[in-house]
Amino acid sequence: MQLLKDRIRKDGKIKGGNVLKVDSFLNHQMDIKLFGEIGKEFKRRFADVEVNKILTIEASGIGIACVVAQYFDVPVVFAKKNKTKNIAGDVYTSQVESFTHGRVYDIMVSKEFLGEGDKVLLIDDFLANGKALEGLAALVKDSGAELVGAGIVIEKGFQVGGDNIRRQGIRLESLAIVESMDEETGTIVFRGDE
Ligand code: G4P
Ligand code: NA
Ligand code: NA
Repeated sequence: MQLLKDRIRKDGKIKGGNVLKVDSFLNHQMDIKLFGEIGKEFKRRFADVEVNKILTIEASGIGIACVVAQYFDVPVVFAKKNKTKNIAGDVYTSQVESFTHGRVYDIMVSKEFLGEGDKVLLIDDFLANGKALEGLAALVKDSGAELVGAGIVIEKGFQVGGDNIRRQGIRLESLAIVESMDEETGTIVFRGDE
């Protein structure tokens, strides 16, 4: 998506450890007009499938998922993190290993909001190692719902997440795939632009 790639080049900041900061428009301050364009683009890419629910994960997936959901005209459910199972009640849970944060956490969704007959699109802001997305896919599978695909705003193509998700046969649409980035020069190469 050219508009998004232009914005990443303009306002993204490359940090050490291959981290791309986009908090001026994506996951801290949020540019809602851009989010609207992103919503339209996901709707266009998934025009051929039926979706009745969008599933994301707190915290930074929620904002983008809500705007995208307006274009699909469906509700958003977000998986919660770190609630202990025994106080959570009747929930689907999955364990997520975060490489960035060096820890394992539980994610959960109430059984009330996900189940057989649902056609679920996953939406998230970033795809790096893909463990969060794999956790969401596991919740969908457990619930008996159908996973129709995953929409990601920025995929870090040099990390393993995208390849793993595609290998599992999950339809993945990433609007910008960063192939490489150079902290010294500030250069970002996107897949397809080389
Ligand atoms: P992953 O396996 O699920 O891909 O996540 P990983 O542990 O690699 O990354 C941990 C968190 O950091 C994730 O946010 C992920 O979206 C985010 N992240 C990974 N790479 C980058 C990056 O280059 N830039 C930015 N801005 N974020 C990145 P999270 O656990 O979902 O946390 P939250 O921010 O949604 O609360
Ligand atoms: Na994040
Ligand atoms: Na996220």
